[in-house]
Amino acid sequence: MNVDGIPYRTIWLADDGWAVEIIDQTKLPHEFATVRLESLDDACVAIRDMWVRGAPLIGATTAYGMALAVHADPSDGAMAKAYDALYATRPTAVNLRWALDEMKTVLASLSPNERKEAAYTRAAEICDEDVDICSTIGDNGRPLIESAWNAKGKPAMKDGGVNVLTHCNAGWLATVDWGTALAPIYKAHDAGIPVHVWVDETRPRNQGASLTSWELGKHGVPHTVIVDNVGGHLMQHGLVDLCITGTDRTTAAGDVCNKIGTYLKALAAHDNGVPFYVGLPGPTIDWTVDDGVKDIPIEYRDATEVTEIMGKARDGSLVPVQLTPDGANAANYAFDVTPSRLVTGLITERGVAEASKAALVAMYPDRA
Ligand code: MRU
Repeated sequence: MNVDGIPYRTIWLADDGWAVEIIDQTKLPHEFATVRLESLDDACVAIRDMWVRGAPLIGATTAYGMALAVHADPSDGAMAKAYDALYATRPTAVNLRWALDEMKTVLASLSPNERKEAAYTRAAEICDEDVDICSTIGDNGRPLIESAWNAKGKPAMKDGGVNVLTHCNAGWLATVDWGTALAPIYKAHDAGIPVHVWVDETRPRNQGASLTSWELGKHGVPHTVIVDNVGGHLMQHGLVDLCITGTDRTTAAGDVCNKIGTYLKALAAHDNGVPFYVGLPGPTIDWTVDDGVKDIPIEYRDATEVTEIMGKARDGSLVPVQLTPDGANAANYAFDVTPSRLVTGLITERGVAEASKAALVAMYPDRA
C-alpha cells in the first residue's frame, strides 16, 4: 500500500541483499520509521517487542529471521537454536510455527553451503504468497460488503453508506500487504462502494486507534475510532452492517482466536443479527487442534501495557503515562477465542467457508 505516495510492504530485503528492513510499528501513528534487522536476535526482538505484529507478518519476519540466522551460521546446530529462539517469541499466532516448519522443510535436506540462498528464496516466496493470499481474501470478501450495501438500497456515504466494524489491526500492517480483515474493505472502497469503518481502539496496545486508523486514513477510507465497548450499542441501533476481524489462529473446526475483545464483539453481533466474518489466510489454520478455548495458547503480556498508555506529548515526544494507582494489579490476556457458532463465515483465499470442520476440510483437502 502507499504511504504518502510511496508504495511499501511491511518487510523487505535491504539493498545489500541480506539484511531485512521493517516498519517500526511501535512508533505509529506518530512517526513512520523503518528499522534494519541484521541478525536472528534482531528478528526475535522485533517480533517479541511488537515492532512487527499481526499473524501473517509475524510469519514473514520469522522466515527472514531464519534466513538471517543461516546467513550467520548455516550449521544444523545453529538452525535448531534459531528455530527455538524464534518459536519462543510469541505463542498465539500459528503463522510463526507454520513459517518455521516451512523453512525447516526447505533447509533441513540441504548441505550447509546450499542453505543461505535457499533460505532467502523461501522467505521471499512466503512474503509474495502472503500478498497474493491477502489480495485474494480482499476479492473474496468485497462482495459481502457490496451485498450488505445493496440490501440497504445502496445509500451514498452522506446517507450512511455501508458500515463495517473491525477490531485490532488486521490491515496491511498486520500482513506483508493488503491485510486480512481490511483487504475486502480496501477492495470495496477502491471499487467505489461507500464503505465506512468503525475502528475499535483495541486496548491495551491500541492497534485499532494507532494502526488501523493510520492505514485507513493513508488510503482515504472513511472511518471512526470508537472505544472498545461501543460496538454493542452501535449494533443495537442498526449502525453496523457487518463485522470483519482477523485471526491469529483458527482451529480445524473453525474456532477463531483473535485479539482480546473479539469474542465480546461476536456475542454482540450474534445478539443483534449482525453478520460476523473473519479474514482467514490458509497458513493461519491450525490443523492440529479443534477446540480453540481448550487448545490455543493465549499470550499473557506485561501488565504495564494495561497500567500505562503511550502517547504523544505536547513537545512531540512519545511518552508512557500511568493510568492506574501506584502498585495496582493488572492482568493482560492478549487474545480470546470466538467459538465457530458465532462466526458467520471465514473469508479465505479459496472462497468464503462456513466456520466448521467439514467446510474447512472441503476447502483445503490438500492440507487437512
Ligand atoms: O498482538 P497483535 O497485534 O500481533 O495481534 C494481531 C491481531 O490480533 C489482529 O487482530 C489480527 O487479526 C491478526 S493478524 C491479521
